[in-house]
Amino acid sequence: MRRLARGCADAVTEFKTALAETADRVTVALDALLPRADGPEKRLNSAMRYAALGPGKRLRPFLTIECGRLVDADERALLRAACAVECIHAYSLIHDDLPSMDNDDLRRGRPTVHIAYDEATAILAGDALQTQAFEIICDEETSASPSAAMNLARRLADVAGARGMVGGQMLDMAIEAAGEGEVDIGLITRCQRMKTGALIAFSAEAGAIIVNAEREVRTALEGFAHDLGLCFQIVDDLLDAEGDENLTGKRTHKDADQGKTTFVSILGVEGAREHARHLAVQAKEHLNVFGDDAELLKACVDYILERQS
Ligand code: IPE
Ligand code: IPE
Ligand code: MG
Ligand code: MG
Ligand code: MG
Repeated sequence: MRRLARGCADAVTEFKTALAETADRVTVALDALLPRADGPEKRLNSAMRYAALGPGKRLRPFLTIECGRLVDADERALLRAACAVECIHAYSLIHDDLPSMDNDDLRRGRPTVHIAYDEATAILAGDALQTQAFEIICDEETSASPSAAMNLARRLADVAGARGMVGGQMLDMAIEAAGEGEVDIGLITRCQRMKTGALIAFSAEAGAIIVNAEREVRTALEGFAHDLGLCFQIVDDLLDAEGDENLTGKRTHKDADQGKTTFVSILGVEGAREHARHLAVQAKEHLNVFGDDAELLKACVDYILERQS
């Protein structure tokens, strides 16, 4: 278990070091798991690698590994589950950026996959990263028993599919198409919890699913992720409103330019930030049952609130 040094003046700095270490381990592991970019279908494999190995923050893998450590899950299994989560995330970003969705040309400071390759390759790379995630999850090196594999795969399918991320993306498009005054904060909350919160929830719960942790632990992690997921997406919307493209590595001011209703358009920048702060406090409270062992995760919450990228 990693703990913050007692009396640490800057917990977020210590967290950033831990995040960088995790990011490196995840990138190395993903590199080994993804298909090599050779053979007749190398364009597909190359696009998958471009998307998944690109310079992302790796926050979801970090949550998987650190929350999994709270329940003493096997380190190797956690690393693999973290890679599966990142594959789903990378797939969601490729498809989110497509011309028919957000039509973005910049991601992680580089051309989006459909620009660097082409649209059909981007669609296929997203599809293949999604199935790659289930291949990793169902492998016996990730899930010690068939029932653990089944439980992990089922939960991942749930959070990634129509009741989770994909359903949330559909709501997101409906919100974008809706006229002024047609969208209330309840619908936006539902959209954000589904499109972003659901995969963050899986990230936090994966270790507990692997070890079949007791109900109290599961409830604490679920509560933590529930608040953190919404907080994360509100900060993403704030970064769209007032972030710096050089730091976020993606285009900004898209929501306002499209007249899209978001927490920021309804509550204003300060109101949305206050809401995110409130959710961050709640998220950390859910971790109190883990005592000092959860300090790094609490620093992660503070980072998510203050992040500029
Ligand atoms: C971006 O997620 C997409 C959202 C759900 C808001 P991240 O901000 O975690 O993106 P990367 O992985 O660091 O690029
Ligand atoms: C994307 O939300 C959520 C998913 C990819 C599921 P956004 O459209 O706000 O994410 P960014 O800002 O493009 O990263
Ligand atoms: Mg989007
Ligand atoms: Mg987008
Ligand atoms: Mg965004």
